[in-house]
Amino acid sequence: MNEQVKKNIMEYKQKYLQKLTDAQVPEKLEKQLEEMDWSCLELIHRKKQQRGTFAPLQAAELSEIRKKEDLYRETGLKALREGKVGAILLAGGQGTRLGFDKAKGMFNIGVTKTLYIFEQLIKNLMQVKHEAGVWIPLYIMTSEKNDAQTRAFFEEHDFFGYDSSYVKFFVQEMVPAVDFDGNILMESEDSLAMSPNGNGGWFKSMLRAHLDEDIRTRGIEWLNVFAVDNVLQRIADPVFVGATILSGCVCGSKVVRKVSPYERVGAMCLEDGKPSIVEYYELTPEMAEAVNENGSLLYGFGVILNYLFRVDKLMEIVKTNLPMHIVEKKVPYLDESGQLQKPKEPNAYKFETLILDMVYMMDNCLPFEVEREKEFAPVKNALGTDSVESARELLKKNGIAI
Ligand code: UTP
Repeated sequence: MNEQVKKNIMEYKQKYLQKLTDAQVPEKLEKQLEEMDWSCLELIHRKKQQRGTFAPLQAAELSEIRKKEDLYRETGLKALREGKVGAILLAGGQGTRLGFDKAKGMFNIGVTKTLYIFEQLIKNLMQVKHEAGVWIPLYIMTSEKNDAQTRAFFEEHDFFGYDSSYVKFFVQEMVPAVDFDGNILMESEDSLAMSPNGNGGWFKSMLRAHLDEDIRTRGIEWLNVFAVDNVLQRIADPVFVGATILSGCVCGSKVVRKVSPYERVGAMCLEDGKPSIVEYYELTPEMAEAVNENGSLLYGFGVILNYLFRVDKLMEIVKTNLPMHIVEKKVPYLDESGQLQKPKEPNAYKFETLILDMVYMMDNCLPFEVEREKEFAPVKNALGTDSVESARELLKKNGIAI
């Protein structure tokens, strides 16, 4: 181990690592210790991120969108046909809430037939391919944990009919998880318990994989980033693309109308004059319940993790660091007797950057309302809210055979 690593282990009082002698440190572990960002460990002692002053941000509402739908669609389709739009599937998460041990996209959401989440997403994208008459480049972000299985799954299923020359995979970075006292956890004798570093690093990871070259060669100007777990996700939606382009904004965000003032979703807003997302727990009761003249909630549009970013703006902000968030998760670890423990309750902190913090770095953003029942069916949990059950109901409601 190099001197700096040894110093860090002492300084950060690492219970497990302090016991290791040089001879006991396998090469893989040594490399992880050298490459990790030790400053993360300070975060667990820090207070919550300071936020600025919030103000409402007017969304493009459904009624208004419908009036201009033809123009938006035409503009979006033109951009798609000119190859200016790419799609980014964020599939590096671990889906711990779902409790499925493979990549979430490999989950079979079907009931009487097999329908994988990845398959449904490709079907959704294929509709746009048919409408626009061109393939849309699709970049899939995986993590070291699920990269091999995700690639193999797509190969095995012949990319669900998508032209594989338009699909590229890239791998996100990992960070170590720590127990609630700040001790880095071990996953095995030769490895720290590493977790994907959140969905905020997607563009940096794309650049690390040299995909900027691909973006440039193809002439892509807009990237539509979306989550793996919303099976009703509309990808590269021409109306959304067109509306964002015509708005003159550098960013667009699909939003749904909140069902109640206190719904547990992040709402689009302005923070110190910049587009941002205010979490439900950050809203005071006055803010949560405030309405405008037509009686609708001022902070009434929740984000659904479907954003459109202009590439030149992404290039501009890529060097700026995103804030690091701490989340409590269930992380398997080696206990002091060397036994692998698989906790049933959260036992560790993971460090993540979040894509929603990228929105704040944009100069402006168009919140674009979509119909919740038609476009939002997240699969987060096995049962209950945002679950396999609720997503299946919504798929059926939308006439999709499962
Ligand atoms: P979630 O915030 O739901 O996280 O991800 P998760 O890891 O999938 O699930 P839980 O919280 O452990 O149950 C939202 C989207 O961001 C992606 C996910 O794959 C999903 O599409 N994501 C999340 C990444 O790509 N990388 C990450 O490190 C985290």
